[in-house]
Amino acid sequence: MSGIALAVIGGTGVYRLAALADVETREVDTRFGKPSGPIRIGHLLGQKVAFLARHGEGHSVPPHQVNYRANLAALKDIGATRVLALNTVGGITERFGPRVLACPDQIIDYTWGRISTICEEPGSEVLHVDFGDPYTPLLRHKIVAAARVTGVKLVDGGCYGATQGPRLETKAEIARMRRDGCDLVGMTGMPEAGLARELGLDYACLAIVANWAAGCGTGEEITMAEVLANVEAASAGLPELIGELARG
Ligand code: HPA
Repeated sequence: MSGIALAVIGGTGVYRLAALADVETREVDTRFGKPSGPIRIGHLLGQKVAFLARHGEGHSVPPHQVNYRANLAALKDIGATRVLALNTVGGITERFGPRVLACPDQIIDYTWGRISTICEEPGSEVLHVDFGDPYTPLLRHKIVAAARVTGVKLVDGGCYGATQGPRLETKAEIARMRRDGCDLVGMTGMPEAGLARELGLDYACLAIVANWAAGCGTGEEITMAEVLANVEAASAGLPELIGELARG
């Protein structure tokens, strides 16, 4: 299948794109195994958009067990060349409070033990892809422009720190991440971004801040109810933004 203008990977709290019309469902198998769930392909503001829920549509796959390779390979196999990753995150620094949308431009990877390369098949060539700018700059620019056109407030830039999960972080871990330069913390940004680069996909992140990270902001306990309510509230403008992004 071709003609897919944009593929979207949904994170915690984003299990479907309700605005997708004429939805066709594809169950895809890849050389890396099965993705987290079916791919839903439909139309959004006249553009063909594919959607995949990273944790499965019932949120059954924890961050360290997501088959990131299969998810990305499945999207590539159906003809997608551009991937918008929606990542639910905690905010660390001042500009990134709950319900903020952000388009980060850097990553620090604190994950461990995850399959983080496609270069593991016997005889495959080892790739040392450039990853200085981990998100495709042109796609980032288009996300920022789409937000401007659609009137969606978005912070341009920021450093995403990827942690192992599924537990949330300690205050000391977040304090260290702040010293390291992280603005946002999430559990799924890596190895996804690195694999996308190896697979030759254009890839960028739209981070949805669901809560203050441990010890930040008001310092209150983080609950799943708070996370989901803030993701829902912050996602109101996403269909327009995604539709506009898919157009350009
Ligand atoms: N930490 C890590 N991942 C997250 C958080 C957090 O505080 N909130 C949402 N995803």
